[in-house]
Amino acid sequence: MKKVLCSALAMAVASLVLTGCGGDSGKQIVRFSHTQVETHPDHLGAVAFKNYIESRLGDKFEVQIFPNATLGNNEKVLELIKQGSIQYLAISTATAESFDKIYSLFSIPYLFTSEAAYEKFITDPKILAQLSINREKDGFEPVAAFTAGTRNFYAKTPIRSVNDLKGKKFRTQAGPVNVAMMNAFDAAATPMSFGEVYSALQQSVIDGAENNELALTDQKHGEICKYFTYDLHQMCPDLLVVSNAFIDKLTPEERQVFTEAAKEAEKVEFAAWHNSVNDAKKKAEAMGVEFITVDINEFRTKMLPLHQQILSDTPDLQTLYDAAVAANQAAE
Ligand code: GCU
Repeated sequence: MKKVLCSALAMAVASLVLTGCGGDSGKQIVRFSHTQVETHPDHLGAVAFKNYIESRLGDKFEVQIFPNATLGNNEKVLELIKQGSIQYLAISTATAESFDKIYSLFSIPYLFTSEAAYEKFITDPKILAQLSINREKDGFEPVAAFTAGTRNFYAKTPIRSVNDLKGKKFRTQAGPVNVAMMNAFDAAATPMSFGEVYSALQQSVIDGAENNELALTDQKHGEICKYFTYDLHQMCPDLLVVSNAFIDKLTPEERQVFTEAAKEAEKVEFAAWHNSVNDAKKKAEAMGVEFITVDINEFRTKMLPLHQQILSDTPDLQTLYDAAVAANQAAE
């Protein structure tokens, strides 16, 4: 019931804010949606984006930021991006995956062998261009990547070895690759929206979840899960995507400023991310969370056979996969 009311409210808010096109000022409103709290690096990236645009094109455009999934969850907002009523969205690749399989690349467990390789890969404009290959069909394209660190398991009971995952139910992000990953760990995937995880943990619908350190503090998952295991199974960015309906109507000069603003947002987000992780860890420790290090090879070995299987299911991923392997080698 609560869920129904919340989503009805979100849709009502969305339709209220989305109808006024120019507002009183006659400026074009650019809506930027994301799912995080206002201290999160994604939000700081959004603020940098807004400042960049408004200091250069402020007579024509006003950027409005909607944090905390105010406009609805990311699946719904991506629909609105496709329709053109929202212009920018920071969205996890795993959510974008249900719109275009190309984004499932990042769900492949242990795709990257280091965070350095991952960061270099996602900030490479050639990679963004390859991810945009189906932009006409998709109705959107990525213009910047925000790092979200590494994804790791956390639960109410400690995971000290891969066997501790056996038979447990974990919330994962959406998509068949996540389901296959959890099956290969002899565990079960329970995909749901980010905002639903806290109460699912509280009600013991799931035994744990998987994410970066900030989920423990920003989303308060550390109040319930006291064990966080650095198994580093995935590195999935939040992509900043733009609606084609918006970007394709800009003049070349305006488009250039919006392109630069996205890159500025990326720079600010990355710096904020690297500042936030240690703080989040300290805060989580103060909440009573234990951070566990494990033999990562034990986890990785179980996942490697999945790579071939995923590539045969989705051959379109091969070029990007090869580029990720090359990025790993370059970072060694
Ligand atoms: C991270 C990521 C979000 C994503 C979330 C999730 O916080 O930054 O974009 O939605 O994980 O697990 O759903």
